[in-house]
Amino acid sequence: MTIALELQATSKRQWSAGWPLPQTSRGLKVIEQLTAARGTNSLRPALGVLEVSNIWAPQADAVLFNGDCMTLLRDIPDESVQLIISSPPYNIGKSYEKRSPLASYLEWQSEVLRECARVLQPGGSIAWQVGNYVHNGEVIPLDALFWPILHDLGLISRNRIIWTFDHGLHATKRFSGRHETVLWFTKGTEYQFDVDPIRVPQKYPNKRYFKGPRKGELSCNPNGKNPGDVWVIPNVKNNHPEKTNHPCSFPIELAERLVLSMSRPGDVVLDPFGGVGSTVVASVLHSRHGVMAELDEEYIKIATDRLARAQEGTLLARPMGKPIYSAPTVGVFG
Ligand SMILES: C[S@@+](CC[C@H](N)C(=O)[O-])C[C@H]1O[C@@H](n2cnc3c(N)ncnc32)[C@H](O)[C@@H]1O
Repeated sequence: MTIALELQATSKRQWSAGWPLPQTSRGLKVIEQLTAARGTNSLRPALGVLEVSNIWAPQADAVLFNGDCMTLLRDIPDESVQLIISSPPYNIGKSYEKRSPLASYLEWQSEVLRECARVLQPGGSIAWQVGNYVHNGEVIPLDALFWPILHDLGLISRNRIIWTFDHGLHATKRFSGRHETVLWFTKGTEYQFDVDPIRVPQKYPNKRYFKGPRKGELSCNPNGKNPGDVWVIPNVKNNHPEKTNHPCSFPIELAERLVLSMSRPGDVVLDPFGGVGSTVVASVLHSRHGVMAELDEEYIKIATDRLARAQEGTLLARPMGKPIYSAPTVGVFG
């Protein structure tokens, strides 16, 4: 069934017009214009009417399937998804999961990933975002366990991205955890990757060749640099504009980086553990089809509300590239 969201739209796809970065060599000016266009305001412009389905429907702008991801995955034909972004349950006893022995958790995740590999089209990507599994105080980084699973499915490893942030529990018997990872694998050796839409400002944008035939010309890409494989993006805690009832949604800007670099407009982007729809929202903001499964009806309602807000222009989503707040160094640190 396809439903129209209740909130009414004003105009269509304004946000995507600002992205991706224009291909240009006008240097610094471009970065300045982009920063101004992105702004520091978290309100995203209206997208216009979105078609939303609650079952697999590749033509819909968004699919919000309320049920087990394996049920949705089995409905998706072979090789019909360009990008899969997901953060599965970590098996650590969060409100939405039942803790099970590590071996059975990994067996279940392997089944899900086997289906993901089947629905992925050649040249497509899987970005699997995980943290740590903790058992009797022992910390087991889940990416170490997921890497062989993805590799054994015939997928090819491209990056292990470190996502780092400043907020979280303060540990007393070890260093406080301040990073998680994104494992990026592709299906095949030829794959979609475009760094231009996600370039970040150069550290020394005015640096020029000081000798040789290009003396005086800018020595770095004036459109910005590759963001690298360590991403500093605030996690969604209480004062984050994207905070909902979900205990661990990832930030929309994390998904946006993946969507913009690993898919094209019109592609299908899937999140089998969709939560409150961060991947789907990031996808529709950039004219991709966003598809997700989520067991919890409450989270589906929140995802629906976020899409309705994206439609009408009242969605709060931290802008990509907004500078990170840093506390002034005063007092004992000064
Ligand atoms: C780590 S959270 C993902 C949050 C998501 N990335 C976001 O930004 O909102 C994992 C989600 O998977 C859901 N989940 C757990 N088992 C599931 C299953 N078998 N099928 C679909 N969703 C499931 C949980 O309810 C939870 O919301």
